[in-house]
Amino acid sequence: MDLNGVSAVVSGGASGLGEATVRALAAEGAKVVIADLNEDRGKALADEIGGVFVKTDVSNEEQVQAAVQAAVDSGAPLRVIVNSAASAGRRGPWAATAARTTWPPTRPSSGST
Ligand SMILES: NC(=O)c1ccc[n+]([C@@H]2O[C@H](COP(=O)([O-])OP(=O)(O)OC[C@H]3O[C@@H](n4cnc5c(N)ncnc54)[C@H](O)[C@@H]3O)[C@@H](O)[C@H]2O)c1
Repeated sequence: MDLNGVSAVVSGGASGLGEATVRALAAEGAKVVIADLNEDRGKALADEIGGVFVKTDVSNEEQVQAAVQAAVDSGAPLRVIVNSAASAGRRGPWAATAARTTWPPTRPSSGST
C-alpha cells in the first residue's frame, strides 16, 4: 500500500501503540494528524515528524470532527484512520466490571446438585 502523500488521523497518537503507528505512517510519507489529549507529547511528536497535533478527546464529537477536518485541510487525501486512544488505568464501567470478575467464571449454584 502506497501511503506517500496521503493523510492519516491517529487518535491516541501521542503515546504507545498510537505513537508507533504515527511514526510508521510518517516514515511511509503520510501526513499525520495526531488526535490526543496529551498536548505536550502530541505537539512534540507532530513537530518531530512534520505532522499536525489537534488536542482531541475522542468522546467529544466536535473535537473528533476538528481532527478529521485538519487532515482534510492538509490537502492530502484522507485514507487512514487509526483509533488507538485509550487509558488502561481509567476507572469506569469496564474497570468496575473487570475488578468484580473472577476467572474462570463461576456459575451461581442452582441448589439442585
Ligand atoms: N501497549 C500494549 O502492549 C497493549 C497491548 C494490548 C492492548 N493494549 C491496549 O491498547 C490501548 C492503548 O495502549 P497504549 O500502550 O498505546 O497506551 P498509552 O497510554 O501509551 O497511549 C494511549 C494514548 O491515548 C490517549 N488518550 C487517552 N484517552 C484519550 C481520549 N479520551 N481522547 C484522546 N486521546 C486519549 C493518551 O493521552 C495516550 O497518548 C490500551 O487500551 C491498552 O490497554 C496495549
